[in-house]
Amino acid sequence: MISKYSKVAIAFHWLIALLVITNFVLASMAEDLPREAQGALMAPHKAIGISILTLSLLRLFWRFGHKPPPLPAAIPAWQAGMGKFVHFLFYFLIIAVPLSGWLMASAHPQAPPVDFFGLFDATMPIGKDKALAGIGHEVHEVLTKPLFLLIILHIIGALKHQFADRLPFIQRMWP
Ligand code: HEM
Ligand code: HEM
Repeated sequence: MISKYSKVAIAFHWLIALLVITNFVLASMAEDLPREAQGALMAPHKAIGISILTLSLLRLFWRFGHKPPPLPAAIPAWQAGMGKFVHFLFYFLIIAVPLSGWLMASAHPQAPPVDFFGLFDATMPIGKDKALAGIGHEVHEVLTKPLFLLIILHIIGALKHQFADRLPFIQRMWP
């Protein structure tokens, strides 16, 4: 009998993972384009990012009341500890990265209003402030790097437990 995360945890996990990966793809596609063309990719980047922030906050609150299922006994304590630490950092980053991006995009004097999929204006009501936008930009650029590294580390860890240790591990988080 494999102990699994609940349906809610699994839905949050894969929806957020998919959106985070999409945002990395959009940002890297936009990087090499001329300024005017970047907007077409960065508008969905911003709206998807705000969706990630909202879902991550909901997920975190939900998580406080719901413990993960017990790990397979074969996983040594230090690896279980590392997993916990990575998950903790993930929760921090999937909140801090979109929050800093949203701050930058809202406070920048030359930035257009933050559009949420054409539905409404999602600009933070903080006014234009170049210094604040600069802080948001700096934090966003710095924190996307550890988030990227953590995703790689997390995938390697999951594959290692699944295939090298031959444990039913990915099933824990599989729909
Ligand atoms: C791309 C962004 C991803 C993020 C931000 C992410 C984040 C997380 C977080 C925060 C947890 C801990 C859940 C909790 O205890 O509340 C988790 C668990 C897990 N993730 Fe991911 N994940 C991502 C992608 C992936 C991918 C691609 C895989 C598949 C290889 C994967 C496989 C797993 C598994 C198997 C667990 C359960 C770990 C355990 O039982 O301790 N994740 N993930
Ligand atoms: C988890 C969600 C997000 C991820 C993973 C993400 C990722 C990234 C990455 C990798 C870059 C390129 C950074 C670099 O140049 O090194 C970037 C740039 C950018 N992001 Fe995000 N982002 C997210 C959320 C947001 C949000 C919510 C907004 C705004 C509402 C936003 C606005 C921007 C802008 C305006 C840039 C371009 C900055 C520049 O001109 O250098 N991002 N993002």
